[in-house]
Amino acid sequence: MPPEVDPDYPGVVLPREGWTRTRVGLGDPGVRFDFDAVFGRRARRVVDLGCGNGRYLILSGLARPECDHVGVELVPPAVRMGSLRAGQRGLTNVKFAWGDASEFICERVEPGSLDEVHLYHPQPYYDRSKILRRQLSPRTLLAIWAALRDGGLFVFQTDNPEYARYARENAGQLFDWRPRKGPWEDAPEGRTQREQVARGQGLEIFRVEAVRLPLAEAEARRRVAGMMEPDFDANKKGFEGRGGRPGGGGRGRGRRRA
Ligand SMILES: C[S@@+](CC[C@H](N)C(=O)[O-])C[C@H]1O[C@@H](n2cnc3c(N)ncnc32)[C@H](O)[C@@H]1O
Repeated sequence: MPPEVDPDYPGVVLPREGWTRTRVGLGDPGVRFDFDAVFGRRARRVVDLGCGNGRYLILSGLARPECDHVGVELVPPAVRMGSLRAGQRGLTNVKFAWGDASEFICERVEPGSLDEVHLYHPQPYYDRSKILRRQLSPRTLLAIWAALRDGGLFVFQTDNPEYARYARENAGQLFDWRPRKGPWEDAPEGRTQREQVARGQGLEIFRVEAVRLPLAEAEARRRVAGMMEPDFDANKKGFEGRGGRPGGGGRGRGRRRA
C-alpha cells in the first residue's frame, strides 16, 4: 500500500508500528524543562511559542533531524492534532506540550540554552479587555533574549501591521532585526497554518529572522525598562468600539512600562 499523504502537513504517514509518542507534560509550575532528559540526547534546541497545529514543527523536525523541537500551545485540540501528525511521521525530535508559552519561556528555560525561538502569528487580541494575553511584551522579549544562546535566532512572523510595528520598535532593541522579503524557501506555500490562511486572504506577511544581540544582562534589562507595553491598537475600528483608545503612547504605539 502506498504511504498515505496528508495534504495539510509535510511528510508521509508511516505504518502504525512506526508511530512515535510526541506529547510531553510541562510538569510543575516553575520547574525547568529538561530537554536532554525528554529527548535522550544533547542537540540543538528549537522552541515554537503558540505552535497552533504544529505544522512548522513537523516541517522543521523532518528537515532537521539534528535539532530537537518543542511546541507549547494553549488549545488542547491543536496540541492533539500536532502531536498525532508528528507521531504518525515517526518523529523523535518533536514534542508538543499543552500550556502557557509565556510562562514556559519566562520560567522554565535555562538561560542561554536555546538555539532558536519561533513565534508565528501571535493572536492579536482585538478586544481591548484581552490585550494582556498578547504573547509579545517587554517581559517575554527579555525572556526570549535570555533563553537564547549568543547569536541565537528569534523568528517572528505576523500578518497584523500594528503587531509588526510593535515588534520592530521593541524587539529591535534586543535583536538584530532582519526582515525577510518573500516566502520561506523551505515552505513557499507557508510554514504555518495561519500563514497559509493569511496568504489565501492576500494579507501582507511580515517575516523576521532576528539575531540575539550580545548585550550584557544589565544593558538588556535597561533597554527592556524603556519598552512599550503591547497595548497597541491591533484593529483600530473594532478596538475603539469596545472601549476607547488604549491609554498613553502615540497612535497605536503602546505605553511605556511604569
Ligand atoms: C493565530 S494562532 C497561530 C498559530 C500558529 N503559530 C500558526 O501560525 O498557525 C495563535 C496561536 O497562539 C496560541 N496562543 C495564544 N496565547 C498563547 C499562550 N500564552 N501560550 C500558548 N499558546 C498561545 C493560540 O491558542 C493559537 O493557537
